[in-house]
Amino acid sequence: MGREEFLTCDSCGKRFPSGEVELTCPACGPWLGTLTVHFDCARVGRELSPATLAGRSEPSHWRYLEILPVAERPACLHPRVGMTPLYELPALARALGLGRLWVKDDGLNPSASFKDRASSVGVARALLGGREVITAASTGNAASSLSLFAACAGLRAVIFVPETAPQAKVAQLLMFGAEVLMVRGSYDQAFDLCLETAVAQGWYCRNTAVNPYLGEGKKTAALEIVEQLGFEPPDAVVVSVGDGCILSGTWKGFSDAQAMGWCGRRPRLLGVQARGASPLVAAFERGERAATPGPAQTLADSICVGAPRDHLKALRAVRDSGGAMLAVEDEEILGAMRRLAREAGVFAEPAGATAFAGLLRLRAEGRLGRGERVVVLVTGNGLKDVASAIRAVERKPTRIEPTSAAVAAWLAGGQGR
Ligand SMILES: Cc1ncc(COP(=O)(O)O)c(C=O)c1O
Ligand SMILES: [Zn+2]
Repeated sequence: MGREEFLTCDSCGKRFPSGEVELTCPACGPWLGTLTVHFDCARVGRELSPATLAGRSEPSHWRYLEILPVAERPACLHPRVGMTPLYELPALARALGLGRLWVKDDGLNPSASFKDRASSVGVARALLGGREVITAASTGNAASSLSLFAACAGLRAVIFVPETAPQAKVAQLLMFGAEVLMVRGSYDQAFDLCLETAVAQGWYCRNTAVNPYLGEGKKTAALEIVEQLGFEPPDAVVVSVGDGCILSGTWKGFSDAQAMGWCGRRPRLLGVQARGASPLVAAFERGERAATPGPAQTLADSICVGAPRDHLKALRAVRDSGGAMLAVEDEEILGAMRRLAREAGVFAEPAGATAFAGLLRLRAEGRLGRGERVVVLVTGNGLKDVASAIRAVERKPTRIEPTSAAVAAWLAGGQGR
């Protein structure tokens, strides 16, 4: 169905021909048996070279079709996913003592989150495989994104979300016509329920990590960064982390880019979790190859994950890159949302600003060197969770009567200056 060569199990290393297994290694199961997709990158790199890309006008991540696991791009899918802007922030770079700083604004994807990269590839595979029903468990963004692409493709989408999902994300699901099951429980419970139902019903499962092809969609952010920076990768990329799939997908993108001959090196990856949901930080600090699931509590709902499903790949990616995992407090995330809005003009949801909160902490602790070239991924738009945005701002609006006297009284109060 795709252009990939084969898959390997992240635990036992067993090799599977493309198409033999849909989700995880049967011997290792869904927690330890996640699969990695492999391409013949050297061959693809001869076709998909910097010179080819220079002549290609496709304004979406489908410009990298040759290194994606789909034989063709279904025409019915949303035309604009990926190729999000990479803003340079020179003043902020100077203030933080960094060489150069860029923000990649993935909140500008069609459903307003990074997850569109993965959903577009997942739905393309479901469609090309003749599937009619697609399902996902999600903290909200993966599901709203899946619902959008399923609607384009005419597939039935069945969604499992925790009942605490922010209203805007639920509104997106319903607007795109998905059937929504709000689970009275955590995201981790919704995930298990969805996976069990998908297997029993034979539905195509878009759950993060257990579907190996989703990371292939996520890797396009890294391919774009390399291309947007003139095939000169940054020194470090900062990523917010829940299940770890964006982190591992980004690493896969840099790895494929290097193997295709686009660049000579890969950046360090810095993964940032919210302190109340940081099993990957704990595993990283203990030097373990796998995470230990635990409770999860943070206002950053998208990364409120206790059992990070892409733990093996994410931990390996951070270590192979020479990077690190760190945790930030919810207050730091709220501060990062304000600073990102006011100094970069980017309105991010809490999880979307968590990488930036991590950057601020890494600089404060001197863990990012002066002069380094750094990219921060912003993974979700602030309109996804307005309640948290209102919580993040210190100044509230002043209610006044519709009279000039009321404005004058307000001005006299000194608040107009
Ligand atoms: C806005 C946002 N940021 C970050 C993440 C974390 O991605 P992952 O679960 O792949 O680590 C998510 C996942 O839902 C998200 O929606
Ligand atoms: Zn295995």
